[in-house]
Amino acid sequence: MNWLDSQHRYGAVSRALHWSMATLLILMLGTEWLAELVGMSEREAMALHKSVGVLLLGLLVTRLLWRGVNHGRLEAHAHWQWAARLGHLALYAAMLLIPVSGLLTALGSGHGVEVFGMAMIAPGAEIEWLEEAAEETHEVLANLLWLLIGGHVAASLAHQFWLRDHALKRMA
Ligand code: HEM
Ligand code: HEM
Repeated sequence: MNWLDSQHRYGAVSRALHWSMATLLILMLGTEWLAELVGMSEREAMALHKSVGVLLLGLLVTRLLWRGVNHGRLEAHAHWQWAARLGHLALYAAMLLIPVSGLLTALGSGHGVEVFGMAMIAPGAEIEWLEEAAEETHEVLANLLWLLIGGHVAASLAHQFWLRDHALKRMA
């Protein structure tokens, strides 16, 4: 098995990170809807949302470090390379700023944050302006992520069926 990325295909670690994060991010975007579907209380759902959100932040740091290790890194396909780079950069920015704004919302609310039962931010005083600003940012960025994912999937499908350059295979 090839752990590292090569010129032709993303390695096992990059692929595992890409697909596990993509799945978790989409589940996170649907938290409210999923909680209703499985009959989870809002409180339970929010606790899980915060824990998985912090886990995603950890996975993002791992992913960025792993990019640094991969010297034989794949370049985006030559067609519209600038668009692919910009799109990937925007996805990375969203993956960073969404959990950070979520953490700030929780900090401002004064409820604190527990990550899978371990205290990360202790409960404290409410900071109303922070909670409001961070919550608004969190929501706007989450909506933006839907758009970015839509564009990203459309680009992948265009590569597969229109350009027929096996871009999907590189990540599959
Ligand atoms: C990592 C990816 C994350 C995604 C995609 C995400 C997405 C969302 C979405 C779609 C909502 C509902 C939007 C709304 O009505 O405000 C929400 C709410 C919320 N998220 Fe996140 N979130 C993430 C991470 C986090 C993290 C790390 C925390 C905190 C530790 C967090 C804390 C919250 C809180 C407190 C709310 C409720 C805000 C309210 O009162 O309406 N989120 N998130
Ligand atoms: C939340 C969802 C997703 C995020 C945040 C995301 C993010 C990214 C990022 C940042 C890259 C650049 C490579 C890297 O640095 O790892 C990438 C590559 C790729 N993604 Fe996604 N992705 C998501 C979902 C999907 C889905 C659903 C598909 C399937 C259609 C997909 C197909 C691909 C492909 C084919 C590549 C390789 C592009 C190339 O070779 O240049 N991604 N993705």
